[in-house]
Amino acid sequence: METLEIKNLKVAIDHKPILNGVSLTVAPGEVHAIMGPNGSGKSTLAQTLFRHPKYEVAGGTMRFGRAKLNEMTTDKIAQTGMLLAFQYPQSVSGVSVQNLLKVAQSVRGERVSVDTFVKNLKQKAKSMRLPAEFLTRSLNEGFSGGEKKKAEILQLAMLAPKLVVLDETDSGLDVDALKIVGREVNKLKKNGVSVIIITHYNRVLKYIEPDFVHIMYHGRIIKSGRKDLAHTIEKGGYNQFIKTKQKG
Ligand SMILES: Nc1ncnc2c1ncn2[C@@H]1O[C@H](COP(=O)(O)OP(=O)(O)OP(=O)(O)O)[C@@H](O)[C@H]1O
Ligand SMILES: [Mg+2]
Repeated sequence: METLEIKNLKVAIDHKPILNGVSLTVAPGEVHAIMGPNGSGKSTLAQTLFRHPKYEVAGGTMRFGRAKLNEMTTDKIAQTGMLLAFQYPQSVSGVSVQNLLKVAQSVRGERVSVDTFVKNLKQKAKSMRLPAEFLTRSLNEGFSGGEKKKAEILQLAMLAPKLVVLDETDSGLDVDALKIVGREVNKLKKNGVSVIIITHYNRVLKYIEPDFVHIMYHGRIIKSGRKDLAHTIEKGGYNQFIKTKQKG
């Protein structure tokens, strides 16, 4: 398994600086939670890791094992085993969950017979309490907010990734769905998969135990700690860290 290594990453959108030097190392099997106020650059970091064309890399390096992400396109990055669950999953008319996953698997060179694939997919969906008809509907079209998030998790469970980035996957989920997400993520962790979870809420960290918690503010990681940092944030908000930062 590979280590993700981000060093002094600077990112701009339309020449406006958004990330101002982010460094982060995620070893195999580690769970890192990234928290921080709205607009601090969390989704920007996620999108940049996958080289979304809107985000200009103005400096720094991103590597996943030997793969130099700076020089790669999104489809090549997907082939390394990195996977992003979006904050706002898009609808794709005419493409079903089932078809999407089948294509995604074959792009990554996994050869599984259609029968086996569909059987596995149905089992997985059932364990996540998603009805079978869900798999043949157009992706995310008319899905409820929580169903979209579940479809993202289903993809994680099916695609055997090496590193996943969950951008607010927990937002809008009911407590049962939250537990299911927790269960799937913990399975990934056990298998040595690295996890970056971007979240505003402590409640998801009840089900997903983070090894590290980072606070992002104005495009920088201003504080890193263990799980208890999330509790400190919940009690006292972000101001306590921002003030310290300004003084020091
Ligand atoms: N296309 C864009 N054009 C201009 N500014 C942008 C664009 N996309 C993002 N930004 C700005 O970049 C900053 C960081 O946004 P980002 O989405 O990374 O924040 P976030 O930490 O994920 O916030 P949230 O917690 O609300 O999801 C914000 O100030 C946002 O307005
Ligand atoms: Mg965001």
